[in-house]
Amino acid sequence: MTTAHPVQDLDVQPTPLALLLLGREADPRSERGVECPGDLPAPSDPDLVERARAAKEKLGDKVFVLGHHYQRDEVIQFADVTGDSFKLARDAAARPEAEYIVFCGVHFMAESADILTADDQKVVLPDLAAGCSMADMATAEQVAECWDVLTEAGVAEQVVPVSYMNSSADIKAFTGRHGGTICTSSNAKRALEWAFEQGEKVLFLPDQHLGRNTAVRDMGMSLEDCVLYNPHKPGGGLTAEELRNAKMILWRGHCSVHGRFSVESVNDVRERIPGVNVLVHPECKHEVVAAADYVGSTEYIIKALEAAPAGSKWAIGTELNLVRRLANRFAAEDKEIVFLDKTVCFCSTMNRIDLPHLVWALESLADGNPVNRIEVDPETEKYAKLALERMLALP
Ligand code: 13P
Ligand code: SF4
Repeated sequence: MTTAHPVQDLDVQPTPLALLLLGREADPRSERGVECPGDLPAPSDPDLVERARAAKEKLGDKVFVLGHHYQRDEVIQFADVTGDSFKLARDAAARPEAEYIVFCGVHFMAESADILTADDQKVVLPDLAAGCSMADMATAEQVAECWDVLTEAGVAEQVVPVSYMNSSADIKAFTGRHGGTICTSSNAKRALEWAFEQGEKVLFLPDQHLGRNTAVRDMGMSLEDCVLYNPHKPGGGLTAEELRNAKMILWRGHCSVHGRFSVESVNDVRERIPGVNVLVHPECKHEVVAAADYVGSTEYIIKALEAAPAGSKWAIGTELNLVRRLANRFAAEDKEIVFLDKTVCFCSTMNRIDLPHLVWALESLADGNPVNRIEVDPETEKYAKLALERMLALP
C-alpha cells in the first residue's frame, strides 16, 4: 500500500466507474483517476520555464530531479539525471543528501524511489494521475489468489517470483516475501538466471511479453515452456498439469503502448526504408521482437543509436517522446530515425507530467510545502526493499 499525500485531504468516495478521465475526479484505490488539488499555472504561461528554473535554484541541493526517458522535452530539460527504470532506481538510492526527490516518471517508479531512499527523504510525483496501466494489471489480491492456485497444484515450493519494476509496491513486497527478485528490461536475463538457480519455475509478473521474450529469446527456452496465467479466469485458466509442466508462468499483463507495435509495422517499414534497422523495446509482443534486428531497454536504445554509423537508418519501437527526441538529436549526425508505428504512440500517463505540474511541485517545495508525496507503508517497504535489493545485487 502506498499513501500519496496531496496538498490537502480529499473528501472523496471511491468511484464505481471503471475508467475515470485522467486528472478528473478521484479514486484513491487506483492510479487512474486522481485530482490535482493545487492551483496549476496555465500550460500557455510563457513564464513557466523561468519559474521552474527559479524554484529549482532556490531549492539548490535540497532537491534532486529524476527524469525517465519517456518524459516530455519541456520536463526532461529540468532533470538532474535521465535514465531507464534501472538507472533511475540506482540514482535515487545514491542521493542521501537530497531532502526532496522529484520523480518525473510514473507512480511505480516514485514508489521504488521512496523504498530505496532514507525515511527522511521525501519523494514527490508532480501529478498523481501518472500511473501505469501495466502495473494496474496485477493487484495484490489477484497475486495472492494466484499463489493459492500454485499451492493447490503442488508447485508453489518450486516457484520463484520475478516481478518487473513496472508493478506496485504491494507486488514487489509479495515478491520479496516469497524469495523473489525485481527486474527491469535491462537486467531481466540476469534476474531469470538467478531465479532458476533458486528454484525450478518462475512466476513472472506482470508483463507477459518481457517474460516470454527473455525466456525464449535470451535463455533458449521454448514457447511451450511458458504458460499464461489469466487472473480473470478461475485457476488462472490453467490446469494443475499445465502448471506442473511449465517453466515460466507468465502473468497476463502488457504495456498498452508497446502492445501497439505489430509485425505488419515491421514489414511495412522495411519496405518503405530499404536497409533500415528495426530496434524495439522488449515490452513488445514476441512476434514483433522476433521480427526486429535489435531489442533492448530505453538506455540500450540510446546507446545503440549513439554507436550507430552516420548514414544508418533506424525504425524504433518504443514511446514517442523518446523516439522524437532521438530523431532530432541524431539528425545532425546524418542518422535517420523514424517511429516504427504509423500512428501516434505516447504513453498517456508518462505524459501527465507536464511543465505546469512540475512548476507547481517545485514551487510548493520551495515554499516548504511538499505536495503529492509518495510514501510506501513500512511493512510493504520492508519486503519490497528486499526484492529490490536482490535486483541491485544481481551480478
Ligand atoms: P525502461 O526505461 O526500463 O526500458 O522501461 C520502459 C518502460 O516502459 C517504463 O515504463
Ligand atoms: Fe506503463 Fe507502458 Fe507507460 Fe511504461 S510505457 S509507464 S509500461 S503504460
